[in-house]
Parts: sequence; structure tokens; C-alpha cells
Amino acid sequence: MRKKIVAGNWKMNMDYNEGLALFSEILNMIKDEVTGQQQAVVCSPFIHLHSLAQLAKGYDKVAIGAQNAHQNESGAFTGETSAKMIKSTGAAYVILGHSERRQYFGENNELLAKKTDTVLANGLKPIFCIGETLEEREAEKHFDVIKTQLAEGLYHLSAEQFGQVVIAYEPVWAIGTGKTATSDQAQEIHAFIRAELTAKYGLEVADDTTILYGGSANPKNAPELFAQPDIDGGLIGGASLKSRDFLDIVKVFN
Ligand code: PGA
Repeated sequence: MRKKIVAGNWKMNMDYNEGLALFSEILNMIKDEVTGQQQAVVCSPFIHLHSLAQLAKGYDKVAIGAQNAHQNESGAFTGETSAKMIKSTGAAYVILGHSERRQYFGENNELLAKKTDTVLANGLKPIFCIGETLEEREAEKHFDVIKTQLAEGLYHLSAEQFGQVVIAYEPVWAIGTGKTATSDQAQEIHAFIRAELTAKYGLEVADDTTILYGGSANPKNAPELFAQPDIDGGLIGGASLKSRDFLDIVKVFN
């Protein structure tokens, strides 16, 4: 059975103390309220990673993730953070290829393929984001876009390596806009992704792959989204900044 995951993406929010306070609330609630096998992942800014990982010790339902990593192992890349550094904080996951990174930092599939390799080589699990823009959906190119993002970003991986990857489908038009994909629209793409993965890696690998939905997910719409057969959880932006909302989304899998 593939893992159910609810990952929070704090983006560039929360100073150090605010982040610790939010995370402490989340931990307390998780201890009392989460009764299923799901995993909560908190993807914070780099400055919080080590402290959150320390606080999370002993909580097997919580893991920590970063939001980006550099493609090179180390060296003269002022201002960047390596996968090895992230691993040394105790974090377990790294979001790669979020649409904001693609849009504002020029990250393309070729670069993301390299980042994926470096992240995997350092024993971290990528949460690899894919998704179409509004123009691409209106032009009915969304299936092609998804297919290309998967192929160019991930298909150089062996089946064993791919087993470490979590996919997040985030339609760009739904991120931070309050416009969620309907559960049918999301399920349609998730089923397409799983069919593509079956063709590439076989049924067993495809069946074991966790595919998250992201884009204006909240405690109200999460139950219907997560009830779809190919939606295995969520990547949550805005709602992950409120402990109550985030926990209510995590608890959908209780
Ligand atoms: P949102 O963000 O939930 O605020 O739409 C999702 C994301 O960007 O991962």
C-alpha cells in the first residue's frame, strides 16, 4: 500500500520563532489527533530545518522537508544550500520543481533532473512538482505538459530510484488562487500520471507511488479530493500556515 502524505509548504513565510511556535502546535495536535498511518511532512525555509527535526524526534508521523536544493554537491555557489547540508539537518524530503521555482527562478526540466539526482544521492526523497498553467489547460495541452515534465525530469531514474520519489500534481492556476481543481479534474490527471508511470516503470512501481494534489487545498475540499482513488494526499500552501487547518487536512486520513 502506498503511503498517504500531507505535506505543508510554508514557502517564504515564518521567521525563526514564528516557525518554531507553529511547529510546536502542529506536533501537539498530531500526538493527540492523528490515528491513521498517514505521514505529515512540514517543508519549512532552510533556517528552521534543524530545529524542527530536533523537535520532531520521537514523532514517527512527522517528517521535515526543504523547499529546494542545489544541483551541485558543493562549491562556489554563494547563497545556495546543498542536499548534503539539508540531509545533515535531519530533514527527509525536498520539494523540487515547484511552479514558483519554475516561474521565478527559471528552473526547467533539465535542471530539475540534475537536482533530483543530487537529492537522491544524498538519501533524501524528492517531492517532485508538475502541473500545467491556465493557458496550457485552455489550449488542452495539460496531458502533454505533464507527460513531458515526467519524462524530462524523472524518466532517467531507475525503478529503484523512482521508488523514493513522491509526485505532486499542482495545476498552476489553482496555486494560491482559491480556485481548486474539482476532484474529477484532479483524479483525471492523477490517473493519467499513474498510467504513464505504469507504462514506464510497471504496475508495481506505479501502484506504490504517492501522488499528491496541490493548489488551494483546504479542510473543506480535502475530504473529497483525498477520496479519489489516485489522490494520495496533498501539498498544502496557505492552509499549512494555520496549525488547525493543516491538522484537519492531515486528519482526513484518520
Ligand atoms: P496553496 O499552495 O495551497 O496556497 O494553493 C500550494 C502550493 O503551492 O504548494
